[in-house]
Amino acid sequence: MNDILIQARDLCVSYRTSRERIKVLRGLSLELRRGEAVAIIGPSGSGKSTLLNLLNGLLRPDSGQLRVFGREAAELGEGDWAELRRTRIATLFQDGNLIPTLTVERNIAFRAGLAGLQQHGGQALLEHLDIAATAQRYPDQLSGGQRQRAALACAFAMQPELILADEPTGSLDQATAQRAIPLFFDAIRERTVGALIVTHNAELARRCDRVLELRQGALNPWDSALSS
Ligand SMILES: Nc1ncnc2c1ncn2[C@@H]1O[C@H](COP(=O)(O)OP(=O)(O)O)[C@@H](O)[C@H]1O
Ligand SMILES: [Mg+2]
Repeated sequence: MNDILIQARDLCVSYRTSRERIKVLRGLSLELRRGEAVAIIGPSGSGKSTLLNLLNGLLRPDSGQLRVFGREAAELGEGDWAELRRTRIATLFQDGNLIPTLTVERNIAFRAGLAGLQQHGGQALLEHLDIAATAQRYPDQLSGGQRQRAALACAFAMQPELILADEPTGSLDQATAQRAIPLFFDAIRERTVGALIVTHNAELARRCDRVLELRQGALNPWDSALSS
């Protein structure tokens, strides 16, 4: 099995608006292996969400080389990417990505079902995240923090190989984040997944193997000694 999940070299992405062209990623390179967690930090607007959208195939780079699971991204069609997102890549968006017409329990079963799983351990995940009581509720009946935890449960229930998370603990208080964080590292320790986690949670970043800062369109090792 290929242990290199992501290989990105010199990726450039820009957005065109009616008035200007904004260069967001300017030669970004990154490698992520199975069993590895990488934290991405960087100021608002630096391109963190753009990077995640590139890695889950929702956005195409202007130039540069990207390989996911050993496959050349340029050769993947929309259907290939959709298949990867169904079965191998879990993306946790900032605003959660639950289906509004399904209860929490059904969201989990649906997500696992798309990945071809009958057994998903969803109930145990909900209990671990302290939201078992929300199983029969719809997303709009949840608080922001409960929605974020339900989205986490969905992501882990599909047993992904690659987790792309955009501030996965951003809506959680410290105590709740503390319960959610081990989910990532249990899966990573088992070497079944690799995770790229955009986060400002110091505890989450500290437990990652590497912390990279997105600055001026590229990733740089973050040296905590240099920052205040
Ligand atoms: N669809 C878009 N069209 C135009 N500009 C965009 C679009 N999406 C993001 N941007 C711009 O690209 C830059 C990076 O955005 P984003 O990746 O969301 O940053 P971050 O997640 O680090 O806050 C910002 O300046 C943002 O305004
Ligand atoms: Mg963002």
